[in-house]
Amino acid sequence: MDLLQAQKGLQGSITVPSDKSISHRSIMFGALATGQTTIKNFLRAQDCLSTLKAFKKLGVPIFDDGKTITVTGVGFNGLKACDKAIDVGNSGTTIRLMMGILAGQDFSTTLFGDASLNRRPMERVMAPLRQMGATLLGDNGSEFPPITINGTNNLQPIHYQMPVASAQVKSAILFAALQAKGTSTIVEKEISRNHTEEMIRQFGGKITANKKEITVSGPQTLTGQNVVIPGDISSAAFFLVAGAITSGSQLILKNVGMNPTRTGIVDVLTQMGARLKIENYDEKNQAADLKMTTSTLTATIIAGEIIPRLIDELPVIALLATQAHGQTIIKDAQELKVKETNRIDATAEELQKMGADITPTTDGLIINGPTPLKGAHVSSRGDHRIGMMLQIAALIATGKTQLDQPEAINISYPEFFDDVKNIVGEKNE
Ligand code: S3P
Repeated sequence: MDLLQAQKGLQGSITVPSDKSISHRSIMFGALATGQTTIKNFLRAQDCLSTLKAFKKLGVPIFDDGKTITVTGVGFNGLKACDKAIDVGNSGTTIRLMMGILAGQDFSTTLFGDASLNRRPMERVMAPLRQMGATLLGDNGSEFPPITINGTNNLQPIHYQMPVASAQVKSAILFAALQAKGTSTIVEKEISRNHTEEMIRQFGGKITANKKEITVSGPQTLTGQNVVIPGDISSAAFFLVAGAITSGSQLILKNVGMNPTRTGIVDVLTQMGARLKIENYDEKNQAADLKMTTSTLTATIIAGEIIPRLIDELPVIALLATQAHGQTIIKDAQELKVKETNRIDATAEELQKMGADITPTTDGLIINGPTPLKGAHVSSRGDHRIGMMLQIAALIATGKTQLDQPEAINISYPEFFDDVKNIVGEKNE
């Protein structure tokens, strides 16, 4: 597909899609609670629909009237075995969090995904869940999906020092710990997104978190809630970068979730000198409007504890760095290699095609800027975030850019190209 170019500055306001991490969890918590849960602003994109369909297959009544999703909770003891293997598509969050939920169920379930998901590492989740007493088997003895989970209603608590900084692994263990008899402690490698912890509290459960140490006792019961989901800062990130690097731009992104475990990109933009304003902060919903104006940017170093707070934004941050003065170094980000694609290689190789000065390293990227970009034939490689990053790069490139596999973007942001069209001003011409 031919990507859009910005003929003049980007203007307008966008309500970015709802938070993907919270959307997945809202179905899961709704299913595992007792009573009704209503969900407003659920993200109707492929990944979250995979979660919704999977819980329907486990016998949970879920009704979507197009506005609100209503989940009739069945409690931790009410899930039903599904005799067929469940397809969770491209969604790492679905498969990993469900492994933790199903570890505590007294039946067997098989989960599998698409070619990309079936290559992603699962041992990181299987190892702690096995310690808790569940039996988990990967494809032909490997750690890769299809994964069969033989759960038990006799899970043991765990004291676990996490070897990777991963909210998906942490959340899987938390879902299992809620079903185990006794007190579990998890120590994070670095603090990662805390939506699961927050939603345990929101659904009436008990959990304590002291910096990297999280303590939860089981078994617990949860109660259905009314959930309102804010916009996804990981989707907003593409337009924050677009606004910063396209001359003559001013963009407003409305109702963006500002959970502090997710706002690493705001810190990086500020550090690099971006003209970013946070307006209308709504404390109750942890959301704000973000106003971005074209900026003169300085290179920076992105490493250490900030990495999990912006892990999904790193491809588009690398693009941002191609337009900053000096050398930007991204390190400690080896987790990027095991995302929907190897995002270190994909980001470097695709941006190199457009003329960027970007070099992959074992745990990140080195980018020299500013470098003018030129149109090229590029590919999302089936990864939604690589595809969106390349469309933003195309906005500032001279000449046409062609994108292979643009449909990957439906994983998290089905209206992405419409939103780009609106700010480029194509619809008004
Ligand atoms: C997510 C956690 C992160 C992130 C993913 C969503 C979550 O993955 O990259 O997009 O919702 O818990 P890891 O836990 O593998 O870092």
